[in-house]
Amino acid sequence: MFHTYKTLEGSNHSQPRVAALLACKGNLMAASWHMPISKSPFRYGVAVRKENHTHALLCEHGSFALNFLPYEYYETVDLMGRLHGDEHDKFALSRLEKEGLDENSNHLLSASDFIYGCKVCDMYVNGDHTIFIADVVKIYVNENQKKEPMLFLGRGRYATVCKDVTV
Ligand SMILES: Cc1cc2nc3c(=O)[nH]c(=O)nc-3n(C[C@H](O)[C@H](O)[C@H](O)COP(=O)(O)O)c2cc1C
Repeated sequence: MFHTYKTLEGSNHSQPRVAALLACKGNLMAASWHMPISKSPFRYGVAVRKENHTHALLCEHGSFALNFLPYEYYETVDLMGRLHGDEHDKFALSRLEKEGLDENSNHLLSASDFIYGCKVCDMYVNGDHTIFIADVVKIYVNENQKKEPMLFLGRGRYATVCKDVTV
């Protein structure tokens, strides 16, 4: 039996999505509404609310680095999802270290399992989010990749995967 709802807010269901930190210049934003769009060329999309400082940064700067951190950083990611970059120095507050900058001056975080260095090639407004579509111009893979990706379940809940099978 299913209960039915008209709105996402009202439904209160677990929505497992991979959580990442979107670095645009010096700012970090928690992001889980993102997906691959095209394999070759490799393009990736992120949905960002207009109210977020990251939205203005992306429009102005046209590039970002999507940092995928392992599960153990869930508190940091959650903090980056509650503060706004026009009010706080979020990178300093994150206490994360950066390996360096990509060619567009976006932060590459040392703790990331992997990072997509992205250049925005298209954008469109849909509902209350703007979809930024980007060419992934470089993929950075950590030689010490952890095996516990960070999932965001919604409403402050985080998890990781506990089973890894090969078929
Ligand atoms: C785990 C998590 C994932 C989130 N995913 C998104 C997202 O994909 N898009 C978005 O616009 N906001 C998302 N948010 C909310 C933003 O991270 C939040 O509004 C943040 O304060 C914006 O930061 P900024 O103003 O520095 O850009 C998410 C928050 C959390 C905690």
